[in-house]
This record gives sequence, C-alpha cells and structure tokens, in this order.
Amino acid sequence: MSRTPIIAGNWKMFKTVSEATSFFAEVKGKAEVAGVESVICAPFTALPALVEAAKGTTIAIGAQNVHFEDNGAFTGEISGLMLKDLGVKYVIIGHSERRAYFGETDEIVNKKTAAAFKHGLTPIVCVGEKLEEREAGATKEVCKVQTEGAFQGLSAEQAAEVVVAYEPIWAIGTGKSSTSEDAQDVIGYIRSVIAGLYDEAVAAKVRIQYGGSVKPNNVSEYLGQADIDGALVGGASLEPASYIALIEGAK
Ligand code: G3H
Repeated sequence: MSRTPIIAGNWKMFKTVSEATSFFAEVKGKAEVAGVESVICAPFTALPALVEAAKGTTIAIGAQNVHFEDNGAFTGEISGLMLKDLGVKYVIIGHSERRAYFGETDEIVNKKTAAAFKHGLTPIVCVGEKLEEREAGATKEVCKVQTEGAFQGLSAEQAAEVVVAYEPIWAIGTGKSSTSEDAQDVIGYIRSVIAGLYDEAVAAKVRIQYGGSVKPNNVSEYLGQADIDGALVGGASLEPASYIALIEGAK
C-alpha cells in the first residue's frame, strides 16, 4: 500500500494576514512537489487570504481548530460549516496545546473529528504522550486511548481518510525529537490499533505523521520509516525556505 506523504505546517498563533500572504508568494510553485501533499494550517484570520492565494496551486489550506456544532451561542468559536464555506480542506484536531490549555478531552476530539467529516474537511488528529507518561512506560497506552477515542463512531471509509499526527509532547518546540526508530515503533503501534478497530486494509490507508522538532535536516529520516507518512511541523514551517526544504525532503 503506497500512501502519499503529507507535510503540514502548523503555524500556531503566528503571522498576520500580510505576513501570511508574503509567505505564500514565496513558497508558491516551490513547496509544490509531485507526490508530496503540502498543507499550511494557519490562524483563522489568515485563512480567507490563503485560500484565495492557493487557488490554482497544489498547496492545501487547513485550520488549527474547529467547533463541533455548526452554529450556536459559542462565543469565539468557528464551525466546520464556516471552514468549508471558506474553502478550507484540512483541520488540526486535538493538538496537545489545545488539550493542555483549552481542556480538550478525547470526547471533544471525537466530536470535532465527526464534525470535520460532516463538512467534508479532512481531520489531522493529534495524539501523543507527556514526558512523565513516557518515563512511566505508558506511551503506547496513551496513544491507544487517544486514537480509540478519536475514531469512535467513524465509518471505515471515514477512518481511512483520517490523518493521525503522533506528537510526543516532550518533543514539541524543544529541539528534542524522538528518534526515527522510536517514532516508527509508536506509529506502527498506532496503525495496529486502527487495524484492531477496523481491519488491516483500513489501517494500511491511514496516513500517520510524526511531529515534534521536525526540521529540513531530519524530515527524510522520519519519512524513511515504514509507517511514517509525513510530518506535522511547527517552528520549521514558519520560514518560506525552511518550509520548501521540508516539502523537498519528503520526496
Ligand atoms: O504541530 C506541530 C507540533 O506541535 C510540532 O511543533 O515542530 O515546533 O516542534 P515543532
């Protein structure tokens, strides 16, 4: 089973609209490599301009969060209906920063994942352990619980479309990346969890990214592992040259 590699830049809370459009002008045509999917997940405010700029390119635009209801009295929230209306294709769900700072539980992650599918958005669902969980030998159990929680109620067709991002929390923004062998071990395990929920054929279709201090100089090492299909990249996705190098490194 060959899976198309997917590199997603997660800009987090960085870039004004003008910074976002300048970035896009610099990567257009360069962060577009045959056989690699290129996704930029930007703050909500930059999405309309980026969706417009991305027309006619192969770069997809994603959001970093979504509310699970379509409409309602949820001050400050943005729904899947609204993202779809904008022309957004991907949405990051359950990033560890959202779980840690905004109280997102596995149940909320599951509801958001279902909402993404309801509106034809592809979810990038994040899972991963904290340092103390790793040190306690609980990495795989944590990833199993989070994966099972996120996939609950999804059809086999939907499950096959999910992009999972395995991000050990201790490796995010710290410069301490998991070794590619360790990441492969956990990601292979996550794939086996999905096979247990559905079957081997569905699990073989799911793309699973590694995230956590991925840089242009280590991206190909991760992508060289059998079960690692891409990367979710924070810091190194913020500069055009670095983002282009990440996409080229995923060839
Ligand atoms: O979503 C991206 C991750 O949190 C990784 O961030 O590449 O800055 O370590 P980082």
